[in-house]
Amino acid sequence: MLYVEILGNLPEMAQGEVRALLEMASPEFKIIERDYLFLAVKGDERAFPFLNRLGLAHEYGRLLFSAESLEELYSKAENTEWEKYIQGTFKVDRETMANCSHRVEDVERKLGALISKRGFKVNLSSPDTLIRVYCGKKLWVGVRERFFKAKPFNERKADQRPFYKPIALPPRVARAMVNLSRARREILDPFMGTGGILIEAGLMGLRAYGVDLRKDMVEGAKRNLEYYGVKDYVLKQGDATKLKELFPNKTFEAVATDPPYGSSATLGGRKREELYEKALSSIYEVLDGYLSIAFPAQFNAEKVAERIGFEVLEKYYQRVHSSLDRYFYVMRT
Ligand SMILES: C[S@@+](CC[C@H](N)C(=O)[O-])C[C@H]1O[C@@H](n2cnc3c(N)ncnc32)[C@H](O)[C@@H]1O
Repeated sequence: MLYVEILGNLPEMAQGEVRALLEMASPEFKIIERDYLFLAVKGDERAFPFLNRLGLAHEYGRLLFSAESLEELYSKAENTEWEKYIQGTFKVDRETMANCSHRVEDVERKLGALISKRGFKVNLSSPDTLIRVYCGKKLWVGVRERFFKAKPFNERKADQRPFYKPIALPPRVARAMVNLSRARREILDPFMGTGGILIEAGLMGLRAYGVDLRKDMVEGAKRNLEYYGVKDYVLKQGDATKLKELFPNKTFEAVATDPPYGSSATLGGRKREELYEKALSSIYEVLDGYLSIAFPAQFNAEKVAERIGFEVLEKYYQRVHSSLDRYFYVMRT
């Protein structure tokens, strides 16, 4: 059993991201329960290389057990073979979620004492093993495997890139879009802009294919990819509505993209809905797999995509600001 603690700003999409990665790891792996931002997962260490790709998560680890009460937690802790999970020193660390329904103030101290009685040494400043107790509707006890620090994501924010335009998605969201596309080897972003989606994909080890109508974007995206150490990429200046011409004889396993929303220059002088429809048709022609795409809420993407032949599988709402709300879609050819 495993656990994932997801971020609170886009929880449904975050859960979808975990589901996608688990599905890629094994058809048997799945989310079995959600308690606020805590996901209990059926899976084992074969999921780690996939979960390491997560964008919208704080951490993941091994889940040892759950309990309905503190009494049950301590009794299960007494019967746990801690030597299987603790290497070196340890610390118990508590996460009190907004829905916490137990009096957990003492849990670190009490559980810590119980475990140290078994001969394990506590180290509060730099433990080798971090035991995590999550308090939600239930109590959950796990061992952290990986924590996703904010700093590397912050260092990839749009305004930290050598080529900056205020059009880019936050890196964690861009990463989730890549994961929702279930890409294993490669990905295409036909509206790549400054390359935010491709940077995340490249850092996951995927070959990054990108297209943008504007020459300055193609040059800028290249600078950004190089800056973050992404080497395996193919960028082209061209039209996202003519992908077959740009990539003759090529079929992509995954597409993730964030088409322009505004009426500004980024639309290349076209009517927005017309551009979306043509781009969807063009993507359909070169894709054999999943598409992860964002559209403003006003656009009826489901209707248009289904007419083209896509199967619309997932849809996540986000209000960005007073004049922009959007949906992130996952579709399949
Ligand atoms: C919302 S931005 C993408 C932002 C991107 N995710 C990033 O990280 O910067 C949309 C991009 O689509 C480009 N674009 C507009 N019409 C296009 C078309 N027909 N074909 C290809 N690119 C187009 C614009 O130049 C713009 O860079």
